[in-house]
This record gives sequence, structure tokens and C-alpha cells, in this order.
Amino acid sequence: MNISKIWRVSFSPTKTSKKVVDAIASGIPGVERDSLDLTYPGKIETRTFTPEELVVIGVPVYAGRVAPLAVQRLKVIKGNMTPAVLVVLYGNREYEDALIELRDIAVTASFLPVAASAFIGEHSFSSSQMPIAPGRPDSVDLASAVSFGRKVFKEIGQLQDFSSLFKLQVPGNIPYKESTGPIPITPKVNQTACTHCGMCIPTCPGGAITIDNDLIMDVERCIFCCACIKTCPENAVSIDAPPLQEKRLWLHENCAERKESELYF
Ligand SMILES: Cc1cc2nc3c(=O)[nH]c(=O)nc-3n(C[C@H](O)[C@H](O)[C@H](O)COP(=O)(O)O)c2cc1C
Repeated sequence: MNISKIWRVSFSPTKTSKKVVDAIASGIPGVERDSLDLTYPGKIETRTFTPEELVVIGVPVYAGRVAPLAVQRLKVIKGNMTPAVLVVLYGNREYEDALIELRDIAVTASFLPVAASAFIGEHSFSSSQMPIAPGRPDSVDLASAVSFGRKVFKEIGQLQDFSSLFKLQVPGNIPYKESTGPIPITPKVNQTACTHCGMCIPTCPGGAITIDNDLIMDVERCIFCCACIKTCPENAVSIDAPPLQEKRLWLHENCAERKESELYF
């Protein structure tokens, strides 16, 4: 099978999923490439891909499932017997049912998953005092992603057509684990330290942040991705609420052992 174009598709508030999608696509040389970023409201394009295109789709794991806002945003893309490479990014705890859920989303949207993977990214709740998978994906992860892309492309090149492909087997359970529902709080803003520079506003995938004298976060729209915390130049935004501080400490203490990427063909 010949591939005429590679698409990098991601929902990636803190950019780790995007980095891995880009690295996988960079392992595929000499083919036209384009990207579709589903992270931000107002920038979402509906698109149907052709059978000659290859789509690399990357999303983060939230509570062992595909991040709910990513599930919603993925509804704008459709395949037409289009081969797809699937990627879930998780913060070195577990990815549980996220990869099987992403496979099912892709199949329902008429993509043909030819390969799938789980990579590790710095956990959204990581901080300098309580690091959780800091700096990942690192050079080892990205090298693995590049060679994964190269291998997938080689295998696709050897196929006569895609009709021989069976449903790609990946780890996970059906029914999927129950989703935990939204987190009913937002990151905390130190209004004295905040200079109202507005840098956090475009980084918010839910469009949850506005400025009206104070910086205001809409709890209904916040998905707790922590992109605003990582962007603020004044460190004025933080995780402060006790249940999340406890979760962060638990992750820091219990998820320190390095996990490696997993690849499925
Ligand atoms: C609300 C929430 C829930 C999360 N749940 C998990 C989880 O179940 N397992 C895990 O290992 N990481 C979990 N993470 C960490 C993210 O999967 C990780 O930080 C990922 O790299 C973020 O992707 P992005 O950089 O593309 O936004 C969670 C993060 C958030 C914000």
C-alpha cells in the first residue's frame, strides 16, 4: 500500500502526546505531512481522511480512560478505510482501558488501526517538589517513537491491501472501567502574584479562563489538565486542594519506577 500523506492528530494540553505523535510521524520519511490539533476550542476542523492517508492519533489518559474532552473532540474526524496509528500518553501510573477505548473510537469512525502504543509523559500533576515522570517523553522515548513510526511504515508498505487486517488487539477491558466524572474544583490562583498577562488563557482546552479584575476559572469547563499551571510565568496557579495534593504525593511516592513504552502491531 502506498501512503500519500501523513496526518499528525492530537489532543494534548501539556504537549506530551503531541511530542510523541510528531516523533512517530518523523520516523516516516519522504511523505507529505500535515497536522490537526484538536486541543483548543475554536480551532477545530471537521475532516474525513482518505484510504491513501495515514493518521497518527495521540491523546492523554485521564483516570485510566481517554481524556473525556479528547473523546468529544475526536468526533470531528472520520476515516474511510484510513490506516491509523494510535497513541495514548500516560503519567507513569497505568493506562488501563484507554488504549482499547481509543481503538474502538477509531474503528467506529471508520479508521483501520494498524498499530497502537502507550507512551509515558510527565504527569500533569508533577511539580519540582513532587516530580512524577519528569521530563518525559525523554530522548529514549522519542527514539522509540521514531523507530516505531519507521517500522509501521515499512509494514504498511509490504501490505497488498488492508483487507487482511484483523481488529488490532491491545490491552484493556470491555466494558471499560467506569469514568470518575469531572473534578469539581479548579487550580488555585494567587491573585496577588497574578499579573493578568493572559498567557494561560489560550493554553486552556476547555476555554475555562477569563480575566475580570481577577483571573477566573470556570469549574464547569476546567478539565484539570494543568496546562495553565505549567504556563504561568509567575507561578501564580497551583494545585492546592487537599484531595489533589494527596493524589500528587501518592503518585510521586508510588509511580517513581520508570515504565517503558509499549508497542502493538
Ligand atoms: C485529570 C487527569 C487524570 C489523569 N489520569 C492518569 C491516569 O489514570 N494514569 C496515568 O498514568 N496518568 C494520568 N494522568 C497524567 C496524564 O496522562 C499525562 O500527564 C499525559 O502525559 C498528559 O498528556 P498531554 O501532555 O498530551 O496533555 C492524568 C492527568 C490528569 C490531568
